[in-house]
Amino acid sequence: MMNLSLAGIYFNQDALADFEKLLMVFSQNDQQVFILADDQTKQYCWPLLEPYFQSIQIKINLITIPHGEENKSLHQLNEIWKRLTKAGAGRDSVLVNLGGGVITDLGGFAAASYKRGIQTIHFPTTLLAMVDAALGGKTGIDFEGFKNQIGAFYQPRNVYILTDFLKTLPEKQWRSGLGELIKYNFITGGNIGQLEPFTKMDDRQIRVAIEKSVRFKMEVVTEDPIEKGRRKILNFGHTIGHAFESLGLARKMDLTHGEAIAAGIVAELFISVKLKGLNQKDLTEYLRYYQSLFDPFMLKETDIENVMDLIVHDKKNRAGKVMMVCLDRSGKAVFDVLVEPEQLKECLSWYSELF
Ligand SMILES: NC(=O)c1ccc[n+]([C@@H]2O[C@H](COP(=O)([O-])OP(=O)(O)OC[C@H]3O[C@@H](n4cnc5c(N)ncnc54)[C@H](O)[C@@H]3O)[C@@H](O)[C@H]2O)c1
Repeated sequence: MMNLSLAGIYFNQDALADFEKLLMVFSQNDQQVFILADDQTKQYCWPLLEPYFQSIQIKINLITIPHGEENKSLHQLNEIWKRLTKAGAGRDSVLVNLGGGVITDLGGFAAASYKRGIQTIHFPTTLLAMVDAALGGKTGIDFEGFKNQIGAFYQPRNVYILTDFLKTLPEKQWRSGLGELIKYNFITGGNIGQLEPFTKMDDRQIRVAIEKSVRFKMEVVTEDPIEKGRRKILNFGHTIGHAFESLGLARKMDLTHGEAIAAGIVAELFISVKLKGLNQKDLTEYLRYYQSLFDPFMLKETDIENVMDLIVHDKKNRAGKVMMVCLDRSGKAVFDVLVEPEQLKECLSWYSELF
């Protein structure tokens, strides 16, 4: 499989070969290597990596946490810091994150903060983490009910994408990854018609879609590493999507990140039509597509105020004003679009009557 010729990102056989070489270097230098997994990725994904540790006879320090977004938490971060400290991890230690976006975000932040930063490597194991979460160096935890409230920009040394991991990915998580692929489709100027194949992709098409998204994201984050400008377009669907996700977490709904983003895109397309002249047809077609693929996220009218509060805390806002990514009349993504509270409320009222 191809090497993306992007610094530090490797696919499949290239990834395993490079990882093996790195492990040998760590072993020769007596560096401690820690692996962070959740209970599911320990069961389904660790068996693919374990033989590499065994053949090099490097000590295995496996840190396992329970799966789920509620564990992208201060509590689990504390547990990881404790494990590293107890094992005497030094500044030359390495943390390998084996999992979905929860593990790469949490492990990335643990690595960023432990002894002011130790090396970290991501092995994303969900579609969503392969095309998005493991790339670009955003790390962090949820806090006090707000998504990604505490965190840091911290680049992994390498990202190794093994598409074989996707074989055990549950259907719901697969759809969650589609949420981010749909986002890329929109912000790269694609139309709804180009979305259809996502639902019935073969292995080769999956790899092509992943590589395309990786290339696009890396191009954008290389140009704007700390989100001063263009990188913001990657947040399309996320201002309202994150608020839906936080509400879902508080209400213990069964809502994944990508499902929340796919729903957020519905709402943000509505705002794009109202404020930026996007064609109504794009909204109507996406809505049909969304309903055919996802169990629609239902918003109760009584939760609108709650969602408005959550949106106000979004990191993309400026001076208390809600700033959003929209699509303009030509379908181009534009960032820093000011959305007034009454416009937001109109959008959420419209959304709450949809399903
Ligand atoms: N840092 C970023 O730029 C960025 C971007 C997008 C999303 N995110 C974050 O990513 C998180 C969501 O990530 P996610 O959707 O990967 O969720 P996740 O990490 O919770 O993984 C989803 C579920 O799938 C299981 N799983 C993972 N890989 C598996 C495999 N190969 N086989 C079987 N089961 C497997 C996990 O154990 C978990 O139960 C959110 O917290 C979101 O905020 C971060």
